[in-house]
Amino acid sequence: MHASLIAATAALGGLLFGYDTGVISGALLFLRDAFHLSSFMQGVVTSVALAAAALGAAVAGDVADRFGRRPVILVTALIFVAGSLVCAFAGSLPVLIVGRLLVGLAIGVSSMLAPLYLAETAPAESRGALVSLNQLMITTGIVVSYLVGYAFSAQGQWRWMLGLGALPGVILAGGMLALPESPRWLAGHGHIADARRALKALRGSYERATEVEAELAQLEQDLKREAKAEAKQHVSIWDPSSRMPLIVGVGLAAFQQVTGINTVIYFAPTIFQAAGLSSASASILATAGIGVVNVAMTLVAIRLIDRVGRRKLLLVGLGGMAASLCVLAAAFLFQSGSSVLGWLTAASLTAYVGFFAVGLGPVFWLLISEIFPQAVRGRGMSLATTANWGCNLVVALSFLAMVDALGRPVTFFVYAALTAAAFVFTQRLVPETKGRSLEDIQTVWDKDRDVLPPKPGHAA
Ligand code: GLC
Repeated sequence: MHASLIAATAALGGLLFGYDTGVISGALLFLRDAFHLSSFMQGVVTSVALAAAALGAAVAGDVADRFGRRPVILVTALIFVAGSLVCAFAGSLPVLIVGRLLVGLAIGVSSMLAPLYLAETAPAESRGALVSLNQLMITTGIVVSYLVGYAFSAQGQWRWMLGLGALPGVILAGGMLALPESPRWLAGHGHIADARRALKALRGSYERATEVEAELAQLEQDLKREAKAEAKQHVSIWDPSSRMPLIVGVGLAAFQQVTGINTVIYFAPTIFQAAGLSSASASILATAGIGVVNVAMTLVAIRLIDRVGRRKLLLVGLGGMAASLCVLAAAFLFQSGSSVLGWLTAASLTAYVGFFAVGLGPVFWLLISEIFPQAVRGRGMSLATTANWGCNLVVALSFLAMVDALGRPVTFFVYAALTAAAFVFTQRLVPETKGRSLEDIQTVWDKDRDVLPPKPGHAA
């Protein structure tokens, strides 16, 4: 099978992530009427999925380290299908909430397992692009959800909006049956013959048998070296040796959310209306534009990520986001109801999303799949992903309250200041990982390990 087809299948989890992220804002208007929801209960229906995603991400790493990546993705796909159908057929509020819980749980698990599986199955030189296909699917899922919301809103068919998520779930489950287990997980668990078979299936043709053998030999050697280092240091995610990857992973997780992207994804039409684009069609057009720019700039990132590297994209992206947020805040500050300022708001918001899509969006998910050593990769990614969903929830719950308390200009200046902090964090702490094997990446932390005191009884 071709590498990008394999990656596209595994990345279907991303499509569900994006779809379910985007669809609820459109469906909510109808759920409100169907179930007589107070605004508090609307908040519950929305955020229960985010909280469940944090929970799903928290357990996914350990489970996948234990049972393998493939079976867990398979079960997750089935939970997606079940959750979407429960939502679609819900006759009462508790049932709807159970459906949202299931869908959230599945999003959380697949948000970390899809990039993990992609990173472990990709050849080093195209790993950036293949892992970022997941973010491309997320952004595509968001656009599709806007379109579906638009198509079904005329008749208020929220059951179709929520139920359609079952479809990619079925394809993902079917696809995973055809895909092999991660050769890294297999080799790491001593199943060398199976790892060879999996690599052969992943890399395609038998003409490349010698290359498969070379890659496998390298993998075995690297894993042995890593295992030796780990035995010496009793690697656990809380050990000093994992401290730097953990700080970078969790730090970027928090920054990806607290710099405000999902306020735009969830509330774009509201923001546009506040900015003076009062007609519904203008704000729908502007929102659709944002979704398309998000996809297009993710494609640009995919083309560049293995060439110019992760750090450069992150820094350029963060710089552009901070500048756009300042313009946005200023536009709200001087807002006088003029349509020029309305369109300036739309332009700066679009630029902000574009800069996010070229850097922080894809690069965060890629880096957390690369920076942890094999023995704790699942657990490390789990922690970073849980932090990401936790911060997502906090921002979703606090945005409207922040706007009420501080006003729009100050709110967006706060996001700008946090983006500047993310820039400094990246500049100082984030390593470049392009073109190196996952095992080789571990050597970038050695410099930091040297300065840490040796563990008692393990002095080098
Ligand atoms: C990233 C974020 C997610 C956001 C999306 C927008 O995947 O993790 O929270 O909704 O980008 O494109």
